[in-house]
Amino acid sequence: MLVTEAEIVERTHQIGSQITSDLAGEVPLLIGVLKGSVIFIADLMRAIGGPVEIDFLAVSSYGKETTSTGVVKILKDVDNEIAGRHVVLVEDIVDSGLTLRYLMGYLEAKQPATVRTCALLLRQGQHNDDLDIDYVGFSLPPAFVVGYGLDARQKYRNLPYIAEYTGD
Ligand code: IMP
Repeated sequence: MLVTEAEIVERTHQIGSQITSDLAGEVPLLIGVLKGSVIFIADLMRAIGGPVEIDFLAVSSYGKETTSTGVVKILKDVDNEIAGRHVVLVEDIVDSGLTLRYLMGYLEAKQPATVRTCALLLRQGQHNDDLDIDYVGFSLPPAFVVGYGLDARQKYRNLPYIAEYTGD
């Protein structure tokens, strides 16, 4: 186990409070990247005081090709009009940062008032240091992880904690 359920609860509340104060007087629009972020976004929105909306994007998982190009295919677009909105893009884990970087550009083109980024997990040592993520839950060593929404071949998303995946 790398991050316990209690640690996730505590950190999610801290981030929720931070978003509440950073966007005081606004209605934040949380945009989760399917499917890994669903459990985190469900808890995060309940840790935000006041009105908040959610939406989702689905992207193709990157293969070798997209790793080199940085292009991510949008499989499901947002439903909301985001021009003028205060958007928080919510990711489960940032590894290379390609998904986050691409989606930032994609959302910024829709002219929101602001776009912030939130990642439950940040994998260290993946040359993603230059990414300026506004809210990071936990920084993790370079191990493949599952639980709390993250999967290994679609399994283990329902674990209430984050664990290193060492095989079925
Ligand atoms: P990036 O574009 O390299 O930052 O990859 C981010 C995406 O890869 C995440 O949203 C996850 O869907 C997936 N991913 C990366 N590392 C892991 C992991 O350790 N467990 C589960 N999914 C992961």
